[in-house]
Amino acid sequence: MGQPTLDELATLRWSRRDVLKLGAASSLARLVGLSQTACTTMGGAARGTPALGFKSVPISSADTVVVPEGYTSRVFFAWGDPVSDGPLFKPDASNTSDDQALQAGMHHDGMNFFPLPPGSNNADHGLLVLNHEYLDQRLLYPDAMKTWSAEKLLKAQNAVGCAVIEVKREAGQWKVVRPSPYARRITSRTPMAIGGPARGSALMRTAADPAGVEVLGTHSNCANGFTPWGTYLTCEENIHSHFAQPTGKPTARQTRYRVWPSSGYRWHEFDERFNIDKHPNEFNRFGWIVEFDPFDPTSKPVKRTALGRCAHESAFHTLATDGRVVIYTGDDARFEYIYKFVSRDAYNPKDRAANRDLLDHGTLYAGKFHADGAGTWLPLVHGQLGLTAANGFADQADVLVHVKLAGEHVGATKMDRPEWIVIHPKTGEVYASLTNNSQRGTEGKAGKDAANPRDKNVYGQIVRWREAGNDAAATSFNWDLFVLAGDPAHPDPAQRGNIKGDAFACPDTLRFAPDGTLWIGTDIGIPGRGDYVNLGNNQLLAVDSVSGQVRRFLTGPRGCEITGLTFTPDGKTAFVNIQHPGEFSEDRQADPISNWPSGAAGARPRSATIVITRDDGGVIGT
Ligand code: FEO
Ligand code: CA
Ligand code: CA
Ligand code: CA
Repeated sequence: MGQPTLDELATLRWSRRDVLKLGAASSLARLVGLSQTACTTMGGAARGTPALGFKSVPISSADTVVVPEGYTSRVFFAWGDPVSDGPLFKPDASNTSDDQALQAGMHHDGMNFFPLPPGSNNADHGLLVLNHEYLDQRLLYPDAMKTWSAEKLLKAQNAVGCAVIEVKREAGQWKVVRPSPYARRITSRTPMAIGGPARGSALMRTAADPAGVEVLGTHSNCANGFTPWGTYLTCEENIHSHFAQPTGKPTARQTRYRVWPSSGYRWHEFDERFNIDKHPNEFNRFGWIVEFDPFDPTSKPVKRTALGRCAHESAFHTLATDGRVVIYTGDDARFEYIYKFVSRDAYNPKDRAANRDLLDHGTLYAGKFHADGAGTWLPLVHGQLGLTAANGFADQADVLVHVKLAGEHVGATKMDRPEWIVIHPKTGEVYASLTNNSQRGTEGKAGKDAANPRDKNVYGQIVRWREAGNDAAATSFNWDLFVLAGDPAHPDPAQRGNIKGDAFACPDTLRFAPDGTLWIGTDIGIPGRGDYVNLGNNQLLAVDSVSGQVRRFLTGPRGCEITGLTFTPDGKTAFVNIQHPGEFSEDRQADPISNWPSGAAGARPRSATIVITRDDGGVIGT
C-alpha cells in the first residue's frame, strides 16, 4: 500500500476521531445521517470541556516570560536556590559542590505537585518534585570549563537528579517552606536499589556492585510520572551523554544505545564508572524509570527494570478495569517506540505499603500503529514473538536491558521521537507528543507512515488512542492524529500542519488540567531560525481537546524550552519550568542571548520554576 497523502490522512483522522470519541454511538449516528459537526458537538457537550477563556499572547522573541492579561507569573525556584535553609545562590557561580547538593540543580524538567497531607486535594500546600535533566557546565563554574577537576565533577554530579521542595500558599502568595523536613536533593551519587527482572542479572553486575543490586545515582531525568500510591517516577533519558568509550569500539547494541567515544561532560576523567571501556555494565544501570517516595526523605529510590531501558521520556499511569497499574512511556529518539507496562498485581488503595514493589512485576508491550487506525500492543516477553536465545535475547533481563532491540524485533512502529504521554481525565484517551524527526524519509531511514505522516518532519504531531473496551490493559487500541504541528505560512503545504488556532512546533510537554484542557509545552531546538523563523521563542499552549482549538498562553525567554507543567488540584495554580534559557548562545558567559531571570546585563541565565496564578483567583485557562 502506498503512503497516504495529507488529505487522505485528514479523512482517516476524522473518521477515526468519531470512533474514538463516540464509540458505537458515532457509528449509529453515521448510519442515521448525522453530520460530522453534529457528532463532534455531541461529544463536546457530553464531555463538558470548558471553553478556553483567555486572550492569546503573540509569538515573542523577547527575553522574558509573557502570560495573558489577567494572569501573573513569578520566578519561584531557580537553579542554585536552596531546597531548605541551606546556602544561597552566588551569581558568579562560586558555590561549592557541597552547596550545590543543597540547592536546586540545573535544567529543571518534569515536575509534579503532591498535596499535603498525602492523598488529600489540598491546593494550598504540598510538595513540588522536579527533575534536573542536564547541565551547562559552562555556566556551572566561574571559569566555565577552562579547567577540569574532581571538585568540579562533584558539583556537576550534585547539579543533576531531582529536587523535593515544600511549597505553601499564604495570604495568596506561594512560597518555598524553609526549613522543611521534606526537602531533598537526589543526585548522580544517591544510592538506589535495582528492582525488577534485571536485578542481579549478569548485565547489571559491576566491580563496585558484584551482585547487581545497587547503583549510585540518576541523571538525564527528563519527564516524569507519579503513582496512585503517591510516589514519584523520574525518567532517565539521554544517558549516553554522560558516558564515554575512549577506545571507540562499541558493540552493535551499544551503538543502538548511542555509546560515543567522548563525552563533553568529561565525567569519566574523574569517575571511571562513566568510562565504558573500564566498566561496560555501568552503562546498563541507567536508562530506567526510577521510583521514590517524596514524602519520606530517607527513602531509597528504586530503578524499576520491568519498564525497560531506553531514552525514557514520561511515565504516565492509569488503572486497568481490574485495578492493575498501567504505565505509558516513550523512547525519545528518532525511530524508537512507545511502550505500555501492565502490572501483574492490582493496586491496593487501602494499603500503601502493599504497592511498594508493584512496578517490579508485569508485562511490557511496544505499540504498533496500523495504517487503518487500529493498533496492537506487542508483548516484550522472553520466549514470545521471537525474543529467544537463538535470536540473541538470553533471558527477560536481556530483553529489558536492550528493549530497543526487542521492540524492533517484534515489529513495533518506529515513531517520531515520543516525548510526553498523558491521559484525558474524563475520557481515558491517551495523548502522546511526537516532537519531530528531521531524518524520516532521508537516505537509508524509514519513510513516512500513517502515525508519522511527514518525511523530514521538523514540526512534530500529537497522536492519541483509546484502548479496546476502554480497558487500559487491552492488547489492542484505536488511534488517530490529534494535530499535526506546523507553520501555516510555510512555502511547502505539507509542512503547514492542521492546527486550528495558534501555530506551534515541536510539542514535548503534555499535561491535562483537572478540567480536561490539554496543555502543550514546546521544545524547538533552536527557536527563531530556519523552519522555525515565524514561531518565536518556545511556548505553552492550551487546547480544547474536543474542538481542537489551540491558544498560546505563554511565551518563554530566549533559548529556553517550556516544560514541567503541573497544576494544584483546584486548577488555580500552575507551576511551569523554564529550562535552559540562553541555550545556543555563541558564548554563554561573555554574550548569552538570555540573562533571564535576572535581566541584568552579564547575568548568567538560570533555569527556574515559575508560578502562575489568575489575578481574580480563577481556574487557569478557563
Ligand atoms: Fe528531555 Fe525528550 O526531552
Ligand atoms: Ca528537556
Ligand atoms: Ca522532553
Ligand atoms: Ca524535547
